[in-house]
Amino acid sequence: MADQKDKPRSGERDNRDDTDISPSPRPPVSQSPRLPVSRWALPCRIVFVLLLTVHCLLFTVSCRQDMQDQPRMKPFRSTTFFRDGMSSRPPVTGTVPRGHLRADREFFTGKKSTAGTSAPAGPQTATPPGGSAAQGIAAYPDDLEEFPLPITHDVVKRGKERYDIFCSACHGMTGNGDGMIVRRGFRRAASFHTDSLRQAPVGHYFDAITNGWGAMPSYAAQIPARDRWAIVAYIRALQLSHQNTQSQTGQPQPPASHTATPSSGGHN
Ligand code: HEC
Repeated sequence: MADQKDKPRSGERDNRDDTDISPSPRPPVSQSPRLPVSRWALPCRIVFVLLLTVHCLLFTVSCRQDMQDQPRMKPFRSTTFFRDGMSSRPPVTGTVPRGHLRADREFFTGKKSTAGTSAPAGPQTATPPGGSAAQGIAAYPDDLEEFPLPITHDVVKRGKERYDIFCSACHGMTGNGDGMIVRRGFRRAASFHTDSLRQAPVGHYFDAITNGWGAMPSYAAQIPARDRWAIVAYIRALQLSHQNTQSQTGQPQPPASHTATPSSGGHN
């Protein structure tokens, strides 16, 4: 529209090329004012663009071929490249998966960081019941005596939930060692209300859950470290409340054998 207003005589679009070269008092402004546009300009431009496209296509195709033909392994395919015949390589020894650097030894093993050995903490051996072995903290010199995390109400609540799920089947809801599995004939689980276990350091409980203890299997695969500490906190709460009821009623602890089968009682 604006063009038409400026050049009232250039209405015939078909003759546009002609108007460019026709002498006129005020020639219409071409796209490049210095070089007059020749009639070959457009075809040349098209050919140039086409050539450029073909060049780019050739370039891309040749790149693709290189990438496609690169030597690579398919997962779980055998190969003759490695001596063991496997294309999947095992991780380098000592590889730590992201987020699994367990640098906090106390938190993840329940052992004191000063407890010298560089080897990973292994399972303890059960002390003979009623034997001459030292009791309480002295019996487990390497085990942590204090929780490596702040114990809040929420932690204890979580511990109760996890304890009821994972431990109560054997140790009973109150920790007497008379869980349903024990009543059905499994070896009697430890009561947490004996003097030796009341005095045992928290690290000992953590270790028992982590590595198992005698007939009790390890629960490391099912219970993450944080939850193990929560369970230990709840066991401490059970012990305190048990002691409290005992001192209030003035009654002695009920004999542990009242629910278990006599043959399976005790640590034998
Ligand atoms: C399948 C039954 C079973 C389950 C489940 C179980 N325990 Fe045990 N636990 C036992 C038995 C049996 C013993 C005694 C092992 C022995 O003396 O040989 C024991 C021993 C222990 C001891 C060691 C006591 C000592 O003498 O020092 C602790 C601590 C303990 N259990 C904590 C737990 C906690 C915490 C859980 C839950 C995460 C749990 N157990 C789950 C069966 C079980």
